[in-house]
Amino acid sequence: MLFKNFMTAIIAISSLVVQAQEKRFNIIPEPVEITTNGTETFQVDRNTLIRVSESDLLFSADYLAHYVNHYLGIPLQVDAPQTSKKRKNAKKEESLPGILLVDKKNGSISGGYQLNISEDQGILIEGNDAAGVFYGIQTLIQLLPTRAGVLPILPAIEINDYPRFAYRGMHLDVVRHFFPVDFIKQYIDYLALHKLNYFHWHLTDDQAWRVEMKSHPELTDKGAVREGEIEGLYPGKYQPLPYGGYYTHEQVREVVRYATERHITVIPEIDIPGHCMAVLATYPQFSTTPDEPKKCASTWGIFNKFNNVLAPKPEVFSFLKDVFSEFCDLFPGQYIHVGGDECAKRWWQESEETQQFMRDHHLKDEKALQSYFIHYVQKVVNEKGKTLIGWDEILEGGISEDCVVMNWRNPTHGVKALKTGHRTIFTSSAWSYFNLKESRMQAEIGPRGPLSLEKVYEYQIVPDSLTDGQKQLIWGAQGCLWTEYIPTTWKAEFAVFPRMSALSENVWSPEDKKSWENFARKVEVQFERYELWGARYSDAFFRVQDIVRKR
Ligand code: ACM
Repeated sequence: MLFKNFMTAIIAISSLVVQAQEKRFNIIPEPVEITTNGTETFQVDRNTLIRVSESDLLFSADYLAHYVNHYLGIPLQVDAPQTSKKRKNAKKEESLPGILLVDKKNGSISGGYQLNISEDQGILIEGNDAAGVFYGIQTLIQLLPTRAGVLPILPAIEINDYPRFAYRGMHLDVVRHFFPVDFIKQYIDYLALHKLNYFHWHLTDDQAWRVEMKSHPELTDKGAVREGEIEGLYPGKYQPLPYGGYYTHEQVREVVRYATERHITVIPEIDIPGHCMAVLATYPQFSTTPDEPKKCASTWGIFNKFNNVLAPKPEVFSFLKDVFSEFCDLFPGQYIHVGGDECAKRWWQESEETQQFMRDHHLKDEKALQSYFIHYVQKVVNEKGKTLIGWDEILEGGISEDCVVMNWRNPTHGVKALKTGHRTIFTSSAWSYFNLKESRMQAEIGPRGPLSLEKVYEYQIVPDSLTDGQKQLIWGAQGCLWTEYIPTTWKAEFAVFPRMSALSENVWSPEDKKSWENFARKVEVQFERYELWGARYSDAFFRVQDIVRKR
């Protein structure tokens, strides 16, 4: 046993030395600049003290201590700044090499940091801000072993790093399938480990309304449960089993707090004016066909054949004011997502009452009516001091410049958004929808795809032929996970890994540091990290048939 541990340590040390010599580390996303300093090393052990420059960084220090203890079994101590001063032997302790976290508050790029490891000084992480310190910790984590029992002997190294894009997001649809708060927190942890900083929470759609509304409690009484769902792939076999769930205000606050500690902003989405069957199941009078029976959708798809569209009626606008105001109060972040995608305009065309509303308001077509809805919500959200985000259809019929556009269709819509002066997030369905299977042979997560790891990695976020001004408006990119065929947490993990890791390098690392060959090498170590975290992942990357097909 002793011999085995000794051998494991030898192997770990020699692999670190090789890494340092070859300057091939396994950090995802790839940092901007790595400099190695000879063959010096620093070993983290149970006597390594984590110190912070100020108490605001204590969460990050505890986070690191928890990671090292939980995954590697080494209990590190965290020293609060005030207690270390009080200690008699404070001077002596401070001179011992340990881990020091410093927030430089230097106003430079948010999230930027320097990580310095040396034999005599230990580990120093200096962030441009608190987020930078947190990302420095994520990089340090990636220098640690990927399993317990291996000595964490780190190479002397200097890293200078900062993000390429300010917006680095992941989305999760909790409507088609509902995920408990514990998994939402786990998902947020995965984002943090990848230096992602926005969590887009898709909370309402045809199949359900998933947040308690104090102003409209009926929404979760009637709108959070569907009668059943299809088994297997669409159209499949119908399974008449009620399926439901929603988050209380208290749970939402807990998720927001959890995300904020990890420097992640939650962007909640209420999808209107289409995708509203759950609203109409609760309030049939809000539709253009109030006399027809309504229920939450229990199957998937875009519902041209079912009426899922809000009608432009005074009570509907008053409802929108209530629910968007309540979201603004519940979610402290700056951004609220209005959806706006895939609105089936036939229901407005077929409704005489709606056509009359359009004439009365000088709206020349249904696109202008869609825009009327979005402008209305924008005003509500702006009055609360917040900014509206919507899927790229919100451009139809015109929209104010301060709305952010999320481009999910063809990138030409993103280019149009940039050219009309909108800050834009790219999440093109062909490159960053992780509900697409990763390889042709993979049946686990649904029929669409494939979307290979390499394609996600090579996703060109900045489209060609833009002016510098337009490029400046590219806020960043995100991956999406729609959950029609993802009823369980393990499938959610299987769908996002390893593609979330490819996305993270794509949104963080400078273009000239990106290399598919290097990433493909590093991803093998990333698989070991997934194992360490207990996360499921797809191994399609290794499958022979896919490798052969690519040649
Ligand atoms: C979308 O995929 N309908 C945004």
